[in-house]
Amino acid sequence: MLLGVNIDHVATLRNARGGKEPSVIRAAEVCEDNGATSITTHLREDRRHIKDKDVRTLIKKLKTNLNLEMAVTEEMGEIALEIKPHSVCLVPEKREEITTEGGLDVAGQLDKITEFVKKLKDAGIIVSLFIDPSEEQVKAAAQTGAQFIEMHTGQYSEAFGTDREDDEFLKLKKSAALAQTLGLKVNAGHGLNYENVRRMHEIPGLYELNIGHSIISRAIFTGLSAAVREMADLTK
Ligand code: PXP
Repeated sequence: MLLGVNIDHVATLRNARGGKEPSVIRAAEVCEDNGATSITTHLREDRRHIKDKDVRTLIKKLKTNLNLEMAVTEEMGEIALEIKPHSVCLVPEKREEITTEGGLDVAGQLDKITEFVKKLKDAGIIVSLFIDPSEEQVKAAAQTGAQFIEMHTGQYSEAFGTDREDDEFLKLKKSAALAQTLGLKVNAGHGLNYENVRRMHEIPGLYELNIGHSIISRAIFTGLSAAVREMADLTK
């Protein structure tokens, strides 16, 4: 399985002070130097973390691929067609949500999404649809012409370690198998961490995982000791 790292949280931290630190570009480079096979960012309509300038710089500087998450809106479609990221992952978006809640309802807006997918594909952009692991959504995704689905692993992640874990895991496994029979490639992400990620190996043919929160959270504790030591030396 490949690893796409979502660096939105780095932008959130940077924006807290409004300056340049920590650099989203430097973060992407560190991810790439340590095994990330793509960099994911979500350009939200409210631009609460990643900004347009970040995306434009990333696309020039990345050694790997930029996977741009976006809502199905005219504005986002225009941005994608202009900057042409390697891939676009279409996600649902609500302004008031803290993070992406639930998958895109492809079955409920098939025509709109099919048209959107076609425009992106015609421009040479790979399209992925972020959906809940359900038969209805997988079948609808296959009808749109998108090349990939990204299965929402949020329910599985929440159920991990409880008596619901196996049920949620089975939904992912079955949906991946169905998607592959329908000719789709399958990614997964949301809520994956250093424990629950292991079971992803039990899903045959899973292509790429997109992980953000747990990696950036872990980085604080793998990096904090060195950062404090360095400053302690300077303040001695
Ligand atoms: N995939 C998609 C489509 C997402 O929206 C997100 C969160 O932005 C992720 C993956 C990564 O989720 P997490 O930050 O929980 O690892």
